[in-house]
Amino acid sequence: MICRIICSSRTGNTYALAEAVRDRLREKGMECIGPVRPEEGEREGDLICVGFWTDKGDCSQDVAAYLESLKGQRVFLFGTAGFGGSPSYFEKVLGRVQGHLDPSNCVAGTFMCQGRMPQAVRDRFQAGLEQNPEDKALKGRLENFDRALSHPDQSDLAAAGNAAELAAGNVPGM
Ligand SMILES: Cc1cc2nc3c(=O)[nH]c(=O)nc-3n(C[C@H](O)[C@H](O)[C@H](O)COP(=O)(O)O)c2cc1C
Repeated sequence: MICRIICSSRTGNTYALAEAVRDRLREKGMECIGPVRPEEGEREGDLICVGFWTDKGDCSQDVAAYLESLKGQRVFLFGTAGFGGSPSYFEKVLGRVQGHLDPSNCVAGTFMCQGRMPQAVRDRFQAGLEQNPEDKALKGRLENFDRALSHPDQSDLAAAGNAAELAAGNVPGM
């Protein structure tokens, strides 16, 4: 049984999840290939695990193109997002990401958690707040930024592993 792990990650958050997914599936005796970047990823396997970072409410272009090229695969989707305030936000993002899959594929499981953002983002919010100290939306963004700083943490990595294991359990013969 071959699991392929495909991952796009600019700053390492999603890559950390990809490694946790790989380690867990290997522990369970599955053969795992990857993580590799979407451009280098093969398009067939018993389970295709695809990691994405949230880019304007969707996955990035490289992941979208990879997902759009899959046919008849079982897919486990996992991702990180800077905004972690509500599970319904993760659902919305996952809905958009799944929308890149051809209907011949089947989604065996999904997982998302928050991921820290670069300091430059916080500096921008902070500068905005200095201009408009009463801006509630900016205050909320700043708070969200600080909450994201510790993620993905150990419990996110364990939860990603659990979700991957569950997804693999949904594959006949695994
Ligand atoms: C250009 C860009 C766009 C982003 N858009 C979003 C977004 O729409 N929603 C969100 O929650 N996070 C957004 N983020 C934050 C990243 O998705 C988040 O920090 C993620 O964990 C980065 O993962 P990586 O370390 O694997 O690259 C964006 C980051 C960048 C650089």
